[in-house]
Amino acid sequence: MRLTVIGTGYLGATHAAAMAELGHEVLGVDVDPDKIEALSAGRVPFFEPGLPELLKKHVDSGRLRFTTDYDEAAAFATVHFVGVGTPQVKGSYAADVRYVDAAITELSRRAVGKHVVFGKSTVPVGTASRLQQLASLTVSERARQAREAGDTQAADALENTSIEVAWNPEFLREGLAVKDTLEPDRVVLGLQKPGAVCDGAGREAEPAAEAILRECFAPILARETPIIVTDTATAELVKVSANAFLATKISFINAVSEICEAAGADVTTLADAIGADARIGRRFLNAGLGFGGGCLPKDIRAFMARAGELGADQALTFLREVDAINMRRREKAVDLVKESFGGSLLGHTVTVLGAAFKPNSDDVRDSPALSIAGSLSLAGAAVVVHDPQAMETAKRVFPTLDYAPSIDEALAGTEMVVVATEWQQFRDIDPVHAKSLVKRAAVLDGRNCLPTAAWQDAGWEVTSLGRG
Ligand SMILES: NC(=O)c1ccc[n+]([C@@H]2O[C@H](COP(=O)([O-])OP(=O)(O)OC[C@H]3O[C@@H](n4cnc5c(N)ncnc54)[C@H](O)[C@@H]3O)[C@@H](O)[C@H]2O)c1
Repeated sequence: MRLTVIGTGYLGATHAAAMAELGHEVLGVDVDPDKIEALSAGRVPFFEPGLPELLKKHVDSGRLRFTTDYDEAAAFATVHFVGVGTPQVKGSYAADVRYVDAAITELSRRAVGKHVVFGKSTVPVGTASRLQQLASLTVSERARQAREAGDTQAADALENTSIEVAWNPEFLREGLAVKDTLEPDRVVLGLQKPGAVCDGAGREAEPAAEAILRECFAPILARETPIIVTDTATAELVKVSANAFLATKISFINAVSEICEAAGADVTTLADAIGADARIGRRFLNAGLGFGGGCLPKDIRAFMARAGELGADQALTFLREVDAINMRRREKAVDLVKESFGGSLLGHTVTVLGAAFKPNSDDVRDSPALSIAGSLSLAGAAVVVHDPQAMETAKRVFPTLDYAPSIDEALAGTEMVVVATEWQQFRDIDPVHAKSLVKRAAVLDGRNCLPTAAWQDAGWEVTSLGRG
């Protein structure tokens, strides 16, 4: 199959390379010329394990190309995946959908024939049906204008043109994006209501999205991956509900960890014990600095904003608390560091290990690690940061922090270490060697990921979130 992937960031670049791996001819489209230049040269402009190899393989084979040109995109294929960003609107909880709107508008202004668009971006419920109207109206307006201008050939073609907008939400995890795209737990497809898809003459068009998606994902579905076909509203809600649930699970254990701290209990043992119950499960019960990144925080806020617009705001008021618990963990970590210096950070050096919002990623969007590093710096500490992959992305957001090129250099002469992202490299630090480098052997294990006893045996004072 020939297809385009519009928006080639974390989601789109991975999806484009994965579709080429499935045997399709793929054209990636983005408005960022630097990104397109890098991807065209076979370079992934961010860190994602396994993706550079896959990208290079298919750029070299000629099956995967990239462009900034929407004319080329509309002419290249009639099947399009849209993975553009949906960030939080500044000063509001809502999702900024202007980029998905732009992608559909650009396509609708150019498409001729029967096109199907699969939205993959995470969007507020109702977006797909709004975009369907936008696409159908744009096409019928083009047909009308061509007819008025006397261009019969173009008018005939446009009256037979339709754009079907379906939703195929993406569940990939950064760090595991390639595997998650090629071997998803499930495929969700949201289809328009009967009669919603019209051609340029206003006639009901035959829906084609389900058959096309099944063909496109044939190797994935052949492995008996479950496929859930539903309406667009349900598909949109599946994605935000999944993220809201995961965020809630993390904030639940972090709320319990506040009690553990007050009562002198151990949240890690507690999580092991409650997680052994199959109804609860141990995953996403790691107490610590909480969630961040380009998805969970903005998705729960957008979910609340949309619920408000729908008059159902009460249903999601608990997510405010989920968000607040999450943000409190960052403050708590900063307070613990301050306390360890008797209340003032002025004149003290603190090393923050981690900048990415999670290991195996260089993504620092809303990263708890970087937020803590920034807060400590603003409170007067000299902060040194090290991250195995996210130094460049972090520098762009926080150029004023000191960045050390290695763990050893980050530890040299420091008075306190904060482990803020659970990279394997940090778990593997030899506490005896580390102690020989620092000025004061104090560590805050913000991710409950260190072997506490080994660090204590080496003479470190270890503080762990939620372990009173
Ligand atoms: N990153 C993840 O782990 C993940 C997982 C699941 C879902 N999502 C969702 O996928 C979407 C994209 O996320 P991301 O992390 O890849 O974001 P990103 O910022 O890395 O990428 C978005 C890309 O869209 C491009 N873009 C913006 N407007 C465009 C336009 N009009 N035409 C073409 N390209 C355009 C940008 O230049 C950018 O390269 C979001 O809705 C996000 O919530 C992300």
